[in-house]
Amino acid sequence: MMQTLLLIIGVVLVLGCEDTASTDNSPAKFSFFSNEEGLAVRNFDPAQIERGEKVYRANCVGCHGQNGEATPDWRKPNEDGRYPPPPLNGTAHTWHHSTEVLKKTILKGGPPGFGAMPAWEGKLTEQQVDDVIVWIKSLWPDDVYDVWYKNFETQQ
Ligand code: HEC
Repeated sequence: MMQTLLLIIGVVLVLGCEDTASTDNSPAKFSFFSNEEGLAVRNFDPAQIERGEKVYRANCVGCHGQNGEATPDWRKPNEDGRYPPPPLNGTAHTWHHSTEVLKKTILKGGPPGFGAMPAWEGKLTEQQVDDVIVWIKSLWPDDVYDVWYKNFETQQ
């Protein structure tokens, strides 16, 4: 009788161990495939990111925040019916636009009557605009950049 009981306890322990082992393994496999494989890599020139950050700090922080985080409540119009500056850091919809569209928005400003995004044409050079766009893209989380890249850059 005692022997049977010990056997049962033994089987339960072994099964228990196997169970834990298999749940421990699955997250490791998952993160291997999703994080280290297949995400688009940003090979940006660090000097260009630095130049872009300077352009941003000199012209854009007042509206878009220290690191592109303003305004968290960007979907809600102000009292005057105009929209506040959206975050540029990947938490809003900046990454839904191609580089060309982002460049045009910065050069020409926001749609009339929509918000208050100024036109930077004539104030910034095209190079400065290209630089600030690279800095903005450098803020996005890896998975956000990956989706943007696969939508806009893989046709090239
Ligand atoms: C006076 C406030 C203000 C300043 C300064 C400003 N922006 Fe904006 N920006 C806005 C607003 C508001 C919008 C939303 C579009 C609109 O309503 O005009 C916007 C939109 C944008 C967008 C499009 C974002 C999207 O998700 O589609 C980009 C990119 C952008 N700004 C970049 C910049 C850069 C780069 C600078 C500095 C060179 C800058 N902005 C300076 C207010 C500002």
